[in-house]
Formats: sequence, structure tokens, C-alpha cells
Amino acid sequence: MGAIILVVSADRSTQGLAWQIVSAKVPCCVHFVLSRLLHPMTESPSLVLPLQVIDECHIDLELDTAVRRLLCECFPSDAEAFSVRRAWNDVRPAFSVFAWHGDKVVGQVGIIERPITCGDVLVRVAGVQSLAVVPDWRRSGLSQRLMAAAMREAQRRGMRFGLLFCVPELEGFYARMDWRRIDRAVTMRDAAGRPVPLTAKNISMELALAGDPLPPGPIDLQGRDW
Ligand SMILES: CC(C)(COP(=O)(O)OP(=O)(O)OC[C@H]1O[C@@H](n2cnc3c(N)ncnc32)[C@H](O)[C@@H]1OP(=O)(O)O)[C@@H](O)C(=O)NCCC(=O)NCCS
Repeated sequence: MGAIILVVSADRSTQGLAWQIVSAKVPCCVHFVLSRLLHPMTESPSLVLPLQVIDECHIDLELDTAVRRLLCECFPSDAEAFSVRRAWNDVRPAFSVFAWHGDKVVGQVGIIERPITCGDVLVRVAGVQSLAVVPDWRRSGLSQRLMAAAMREAQRRGMRFGLLFCVPELEGFYARMDWRRIDRAVTMRDAAGRPVPLTAKNISMELALAGDPLPPGPIDLQGRDW
């Protein structure tokens, strides 16, 4: 376990930053105690909900079940798929960020690591998978915190680009977090491994994690979408 630094400050952004540093270092039982200690210092409840980055290989059955329940609640039309597996299309994330309220997971986002091609150039992207926040915690800033923590971790792991697919109605939501719509052909693989265009109902969006946008040219996901 890393060192715990408790920052007492009247400034909520400093508290949030301090909490995120603490959150990245301690296991979830300690999160719970610290969140109780820090809670009275803030007005925004989501600011103190602890976030935790967990590698896929450390997700146990209990957490997998809790997250599948969360996904079934947040994506009711995909409940059949999420009732048996957490990863969309069975594309497993490299890591996930979870938001805890006590011992309950109330928000999550998975990040997959994938080499894709843009034209002839091979790049490794951080693909955003199944961002979800339970209804009681929506409109609290939690999804922004989950996304920011996930992209920081992707940057730390050397990824230079974020890539996500969403319905057009969510474009403004992600644009507020600096994601930018990309309008170009995207090819993925279907269940039989055949190259097919990205599902027409979705748009693609990118986030530059190291300054540069994705190289130009048609995108080939080199696998299933996530
Ligand atoms: C997307 C989500 C994480 C955002 O949570 P939040 O930050 O608390 O934000 P809100 O729920 O208040 O929604 C933010 C905006 O997105 C819209 N939105 C949310 N989910 C949407 C969906 N599935 N389809 C279309 N619009 C959606 C909301 O209407 C709202 O629009 P507005 O800001 O113009 O009023 C949460 O709504 C959720 O879990 N939704 C279900 C799962 C989902 O769709 N995940 C995104 C996958 S790409």
C-alpha cells in the first residue's frame, strides 16, 4: 500500500485532487473509511466517491457480478448480453475504473488497449467501453471523473489516443470532456471475423492524449468493436 496523504483544505478542487491521489493508492476497505472522513468537507457528493483503477486480471467473480448488474440496469436493451458477460462483444478491457458508494459499485468505465490502423499507420488506442452511472448518481459529475481518471491512466500506460463509439445524442456530452467527433470510414470485424462497417447507429469520437490527433485515413479496428 502506498503512503496516505490527508490534505485538509477548504478548496473543493484541492480536496478532489487529493482524494483521487489517495484513491489510486489504497484498497477499497480503506476507501470506504476515508470517504466517510472526507465527506463532511464537501458539498458535492460525487466529488468524494472514491474511484479505483483495477486491472482486468484482478477482477474477481464478486466484482464481475456486481458490475454486470450495474450494466444490466444502465443498458436495459443489452441486459441479455450483460447478464452473462461484462465485456461487450467479449472484448475484455485492460483495466476499469470503478466508483464506489460504500461497498456498492455505482459507476464504471472499461478501457481496452487495441492496435488499430489509420490508413497505413498502426497506432495503439484506449477504447472506452460501457461508461455507466446508476440513475441515483447521474448529474453529479461522476461520469466526468470516471472518464478523466480512465484517460489519465491510459496516458500513464503510454496510450496516445482515446477512441469511443456512441449514439449521436451523446456527442455533446463527450464534447464537453474535449472529445471530438471523427467522420471517416471505420471498419470492424463481425462475429465471424469478416470486415464490416461500424454499426450505422454509432458515431466515432477521439481524444488526443499526447497532443496529436489520430493519423488520417480510414480506421480499421483490426477486431471486434467494444
Ligand atoms: C451516459 C451516463 C454515464 C452519463 O451520466 P451523467 O454524467 O450523470 O449524465 P446524464 O445521465 O445526466 O446525461 C448527460 C447527457 O447525456 C444524455 N444521455 C445519457 N444517456 C443517454 C443515452 N443512452 N442516449 C442518449 N442520450 C443520453 C442525457 O440526456 C444528458 O443530456 P443533456 O446533458 O443534454 O441533458 C449515464 O447517463 C448512463 O449511465 N447512461 C446509460 C448508459 C450509457 O448510455 N452509457 C454511454 C455509453 S457510450
